Amino acid sequence: MIPSEIIEEIKFRCDIVDVISGYVTLKRSGSGMVGLCPFHSEKTPSFHVTPERGFFYCFGCGVGGDVITFIRKIENLDYVGAVELLAKRAGIAIPEQARPDQAPSGVKKTRIVEINREAARFFHAQLLNSPEAKDYLAQRGLTMPIIKHFGLGYAPDSFNAMQLHLTGLGYTVEELTAAFLCGISAKTGRPYDYFRGRIIFPIIDVSGDVVAFGGRALGDGMPKYLNSSDTPAFKKSRTLFALNFARHSCAERLILCEGYMDVIALHAAGFTNAVATLGTALTEEQARIMKRYTKQVVITYDSDRAGQNAADKAIRLLEATGLDTKVLTVTGAKDPDEYIKKYGAAAFGRLLEGSRSRFEFKLDTITEKYKIGPGGEADDESKIKAIGEVVDLLAELSSKTECEICTRRAAERLDVSAENLARDVEVKRRKLYSAAKRAQRRQSLRLAEGYGDRVNPDRRLFMQEAAAEEAILGILLLYPELIPQALEIIGPDEFRTALNRKIYEAIAGASDGFSLSTLGQILSEEEMGRAVSYMAERERLTKNDLEVIEDCAKTLRNSPALPTAAAHDSDVPDPDDIAALIAKRRAGEQS
Ligand code: GTP
Ligand code: MN
Repeated sequence: MIPSEIIEEIKFRCDIVDVISGYVTLKRSGSGMVGLCPFHSEKTPSFHVTPERGFFYCFGCGVGGDVITFIRKIENLDYVGAVELLAKRAGIAIPEQARPDQAPSGVKKTRIVEINREAARFFHAQLLNSPEAKDYLAQRGLTMPIIKHFGLGYAPDSFNAMQLHLTGLGYTVEELTAAFLCGISAKTGRPYDYFRGRIIFPIIDVSGDVVAFGGRALGDGMPKYLNSSDTPAFKKSRTLFALNFARHSCAERLILCEGYMDVIALHAAGFTNAVATLGTALTEEQARIMKRYTKQVVITYDSDRAGQNAADKAIRLLEATGLDTKVLTVTGAKDPDEYIKKYGAAAFGRLLEGSRSRFEFKLDTITEKYKIGPGGEADDESKIKAIGEVVDLLAELSSKTECEICTRRAAERLDVSAENLARDVEVKRRKLYSAAKRAQRRQSLRLAEGYGDRVNPDRRLFMQEAAAEEAILGILLLYPELIPQALEIIGPDEFRTALNRKIYEAIAGASDGFSLSTLGQILSEEEMGRAVSYMAERERLTKNDLEVIEDCAKTLRNSPALPTAAAHDSDVPDPDDIAALIAKRRAGEQS
């Protein structure tokens, strides 16, 4: 198995739209992109790419997956081949010496924290001795007091300097590996330092323990950042960088950034309520943690497309916890770090006061795109397009009052009548609803027609149950942050069909964060296409939450037991058994 860190790295660097655009001409459509499917011949495009969630799906032929699946299919490679191709494209070396995927069991959290504290001391001392590292930080505007405050360090570019130091203090190589400070070379069996030639950011939890490290390459080294994987002392999805400091000044508001350097620049400029996730998208757990500490979160991600998409996703997650959520987009700089350097802390403070709600944020994006507003040069055509996008946005709002207020605001900005805009929104709402219904019906018809479902043969026996399972899986694949709660509602063994159970087991078993690529390693291409179809179908619906999962769980629980155990126990039931069972079931339903 290729370490999940590497897969994560590759997906981080290979934008699915960029990669697919090398093979397919894609056009923007709603929140995604469409094109002619490269896997079957067609005249009207049914091949969809959803960049925000990193998957593609063809509604025509049912092929779908993540960027790795795409390369696998189009280049006719196996999984490892596809990963290698993408790694090369991204400039990432796949280490021949596999790193430990999991910490050897038995090393206690307290021991790892102790090792980390020593490692942090070592890295910090190394920094003070390294003119090169000190120069780098000085050139990035970091003063000695701020370096000390964050306990920054430097990992020397050496094969085993840190290991020698720590084993000298009495820690074993096994313990260092468990702490994710060392890897073991598969070729030589020798341990090597995981962080080499990097600026080190100690990650400190709210009780003041050093739980992990982030390491940034000096200059243009690849990858730019390395982070510790989860250990008994560290769970990435539940940790926020600098919350140990921010917790003292965040009763009213937290500032959420993308990067370590942004947080440090903000703290240095007096915004000591800034935190960041650790190189991954915000999780539901992190959102809930923030809710414990504050009332309002201002998201300030990078100003590029990726950053703004991530902000859009984060805002939904934060709003779902009931936090007042705002977005601050820096203009004239790529991130808050650069912004403060260019324009100063006071200017950032003003931006902070003017940060926007999700609706305002999206409305601004649209009006900027079509150059609408005072001094704008929008012609009728672009204005109509802009209205179309605003209508889509408004139709999504679930609260009627919110929708009304926002409609009025949007009408003003677009210079059209609020009544007409409201009417368009209502029409759009109805369309969305019936399109979703129709798609659902089509899907169940297609599958119900019983033209031998080879991918999930049990489906014919458990039509209703399978539909419920697929709704649950679709929602979880779209919103992995709901996984822990879903697992409390329903367990994998309550799933009736083999394929869906296998997918749910994989979801349940992925301890450190689930992503589509987890499935890529265990499902066949056809199965992957099926899994992605669940996502694509759910994405067309507006209601995708725990309530739906609860309803579906009920359906599964209420499903009557089969008269014989045949289909349930074997993965691929005998076709004759199936026919007999279907007949029995139908007869039962009619009486
Ligand atoms: P600078 O480029 O030094 O200013 O760092 P930054 O903190 O602004 O980073 P950037 O905006 O490029 O990325 C935001 C965050 O994403 C970083 O702080 C890291 O946590 C993470 N990140 C960036 N590059 C990589 C990478 O190559 N691999 C991984 N795993 N994470 C990365
Ligand atoms: Mn930066």
